[in-house]
Amino acid sequence: MAFPETRLRRLRYNKILRSMVTETHLRVDDLVYPLFVCPGEKVKNPINSMPGNYQMSIDVLVEECKRAVSKGVKSILLFGIPEHKDEHGHVACQHDGIVQRAMRAIKEDIKDIQLIADVCNCEYTTHGHCGTIIDNDVDNDSTLKTLAAQAVSLAEAGADIIAPSDMMDGRVAVIREALDKNGFFKIPIMSYAAKYASGFYGPFREAADSAPQFGDRSTYQMNPANSDEAMREVEEDIFEGADIVMVKPALSYLDVIYRVKNEFKMPTAAYNVSGEFSMVKAAGANDWIDETRVMMEVLTSIKRAGADIIITYHALEAADILNNHK
Ligand code: PBG
Repeated sequence: MAFPETRLRRLRYNKILRSMVTETHLRVDDLVYPLFVCPGEKVKNPINSMPGNYQMSIDVLVEECKRAVSKGVKSILLFGIPEHKDEHGHVACQHDGIVQRAMRAIKEDIKDIQLIADVCNCEYTTHGHCGTIIDNDVDNDSTLKTLAAQAVSLAEAGADIIAPSDMMDGRVAVIREALDKNGFFKIPIMSYAAKYASGFYGPFREAADSAPQFGDRSTYQMNPANSDEAMREVEEDIFEGADIVMVKPALSYLDVIYRVKNEFKMPTAAYNVSGEFSMVKAAGANDWIDETRVMMEVLTSIKRAGADIIITYHALEAADILNNHK
């Protein structure tokens, strides 16, 4: 049938009906809230390029986690800013490392929460790269050892999910083996499987003090021009034992999210990264866009593309909107 019998506007005239035929439903349970923990007490350093986000000492962080949980956002992704850095990122594997202490403190105070540990070396190395440097480049196989040690140490500290974000080849297998050997066979791995060398990480590197001191990350993170390669990355991570696969960033890669979900039917996460967040905030602050509306449109589009899980700095603001619409 065609026009005039078919009129697609018929389903749009009435608000109740529009709601009834809505295809994509964003839920508070889909959201993961990333937070940055730093040394000290009562520290709440604003991150200039990410309005509303802070580097927080553990005491402040615990309160922020309580606020998140009170809004129904129960999954937190933690990044650490350590006291000291070293060549290989060994500080990231210590029992009393900043993220390890933070996780213990959160778990002591809050019951109904899920802690996701980002596993990577870039916040912990003096040179800001994601692994050990040999001949001016990140050495894949020696980095695997520090990543596995970091993963086990974070699991011991209470991590509920391990999320390697380094993009070394073979890291999921090595981390899985190390976790299992240490009795953590129940802990899932959420791998940053298709992670691109992206300009959208700019604000995060200020937040986590993790900018590379020389070169860039294009020998390990993916070329933004490629999506067949993303499928190979994801396939490999699943083969090695990933339980959840991630595409990162999200907005410029909605096609990749779509392909990954369709091809592998795996629980799929997407990281709505710092630069995507900051652009919405900047345009909103200038009244160039309706910030709340754009935020919900962005998050809904990521879900529509196929993401089950969305990591976003908008998590609490989005939860407020979703909770009010119930
Ligand atoms: C660590 C890591 C990065 C992000 C998450 N984990 C930075 C990077 O790869 O340079 C970026 C997150 C964001 O921009 O919000 N490797």
